[in-house]
This record gives sequence, structure tokens and C-alpha cells, in this order.
Amino acid sequence: YCPKARPSCSGKLNQVIQLSNPKVVDTIDVEDISGKAAFCRCWKSKNWPYCDGSHAAHNKETGDNVGPVIVKKAK
Ligand code: FES
Repeated sequence: YCPKARPSCSGKLNQVIQLSNPKVVDTIDVEDISGKAAFCRCWKSKNWPYCDGSHAAHNKETGDNVGPVIVKKAK
């Protein structure tokens, strides 16, 4: 269910991150990842581009099932 009055239903996934930027692109050097890193895919994180757990509230509010992508170094 998605009422049009709700901002999250405007058609824009990104309601928070760098809104004045025409396209949000992030580059992370593999060397800067120690062990593993979780990257946000819900566009709600306050610690973008990393996941801060905000997807849990989003999922609860909307019934969505999004979560981070975890990048880890091979052993
Ligand atoms: Fe966005 Fe976790 S905060 S996926």
C-alpha cells in the first residue's frame, strides 16, 4: 500500500542522501575495507554509503524487505 501523500511514495528511492547532487556515486577503495563492510541499499542510512541499520525501520514501516550488501575480503 502506497498513499501518494507519503514522501516515500513519490517515486524517488532517495529521500535523504545528497539531494542536490544530480547523481549519487560513491567509490570505495578495496584497500580501505578491513575484513568486511556493509553498504546501504535502502537509501535511508545516516552513514552513507555504509549501512547503519536504518533499513529495519524502513522495512517495518513499509513492509519492504531491503538490506545491505556485504562486501568481504576473501580469506
Ligand atoms: Fe540502508 Fe541498512 S541502512 S541497507
